[in-house]
Amino acid sequence: MEFSTKAGTPDRIKSGCIVVGVYADHKLTPAASLVDVASGGALATAAKRNDLPLKRGAVLMMTGVSGIAAERVLIVGLGKQEEFKAKGLAEVVKAAVKTLDASGAVSALFTLGEVPIAGMNAADTVRAIVVAAREAVFRTDELKSKKEDDGTLAKIVFPVEKADAASTAKAVAMGVALANGCELTKRLGNLPPNICTPTYLADTAKQIAKEFGFKTEVLDRKQMEQLKMGSFLSVSQSSAQPPKLIVMTWSGGKSKDAPVVLVGKGITFDTGGISLKPGDSMDEMKYDMCGAGSVLGTFRAIAEMGLKINVVGVIAASENMPGGDATRPGDIVTSMSGQTIEILNTDAEGRLVLCDALTYAERFKPAAVIDIATLTGACVIALGHVNSGLFSTDDELATEILAASKASGDAAWRMPVEDDYQEQLKSNFADMANIGGRPGGSITAACFLSRYTKAYRWAHLDIAGTAWKSGAAKGATGRPVPLLTAFLEARAA
Ligand code: BES
Ligand code: MN
Ligand code: ZN
Repeated sequence: MEFSTKAGTPDRIKSGCIVVGVYADHKLTPAASLVDVASGGALATAAKRNDLPLKRGAVLMMTGVSGIAAERVLIVGLGKQEEFKAKGLAEVVKAAVKTLDASGAVSALFTLGEVPIAGMNAADTVRAIVVAAREAVFRTDELKSKKEDDGTLAKIVFPVEKADAASTAKAVAMGVALANGCELTKRLGNLPPNICTPTYLADTAKQIAKEFGFKTEVLDRKQMEQLKMGSFLSVSQSSAQPPKLIVMTWSGGKSKDAPVVLVGKGITFDTGGISLKPGDSMDEMKYDMCGAGSVLGTFRAIAEMGLKINVVGVIAASENMPGGDATRPGDIVTSMSGQTIEILNTDAEGRLVLCDALTYAERFKPAAVIDIATLTGACVIALGHVNSGLFSTDDELATEILAASKASGDAAWRMPVEDDYQEQLKSNFADMANIGGRPGGSITAACFLSRYTKAYRWAHLDIAGTAWKSGAAKGATGRPVPLLTAFLEARAA
């Protein structure tokens, strides 16, 4: 899908289809009114016949409308004006793209950038349209031998007045960058675990680093042994796939500015290890690298945006497999921090790889560290598939992340990380156990991580419920790339 801008009044710009809106009360968007006037009342006639799509997401495709430069008119229902927000816009754009793809139109002039939405300016709206349009056409079919037919729509054009041309073009470019980042995250998540291995994640990091001119370093098992990452390596020790610690450095800011460090859980397949998971839906544990995928996607987005900020990405990539060399429940390992861990359940492996990655992050003297992980099933029980769990010991950082969540529409909800929960991690034989029992399972997981993050401001996003969808719509969501990107954009501004 290509995106561009074109100067002129919407009714005079040539395209395969002009996309305009109507509210539930029959009120037309300005471009819809222009089309109505230029065509000698085509929309008024449709209204008289009760043909206007008044429900949000409903559509009416009209051909043979005279007096305008476009070959077709697609009217989309916006629903009630007072209820029309960012979510509604995305829904409406997706409905429009689906209809356009099934029509003969190759190009479409999208005029919905002019629709007022509280808290969004025209540039925000155009950017949101780009992201939603790309979402509508996304699929992962690279491993299907017969591809589904592509739709007809190849080009979306935004009409601009001369004065706004530059700001709209910039909004389009930012939207494309974010969409590219989200798509990378989704694609990596959807790839099967026999292809998307730790080595594959490392190669992906190297590839985007080369494309966008930033630095990537990949540490192998030997180097991690030298760093004494005994906790991380205990997860990898029975896997035929070698583990990787991937370190990406985006230096868009001033050299003296402390970086934000993003740490991603990259378990490319989580069997549970010796504490083997039940078989039902185990395939979905290929998504246990979605934290890592979101770090890669965010890097892809901010590099294309050219954000003026320093960011380091650290990815702890490993499989979690059973086998003769695997960690046994009861094994005690020593983390890079020197703290010892009794591994009572080998399925609580995310925190074991993350704790060493978090200790490694200290060397960057970070302004803040955010880790992103499909960490606990308990988080799905607590928050469902709507909100990511946000855990932080730093109120200011939490507030900043929640603001980015609101701005991007990528929902997150703050959860507690209080000392009273730490007791559940007591071990009789080591500094801590790696599990805290069923009560507050996502909180004790965060408490475990908090023991490795004392040297800096830290937040943790548990994306177990939000990183992918199950069932008929099975697929990665690309979350929380929009949230992370919005957070970094706000910091860069
Ligand atoms: N990757 C899983 C968490 C998970 C499970 C995410 C299901 C999404 C859906 C994680 O490694 C895990 O297995 N966590 C255990 C921890 C428990 C053993 C303390 C869990 O949540 O059951
Ligand atoms: Mn697990
Ligand atoms: Zn896991």
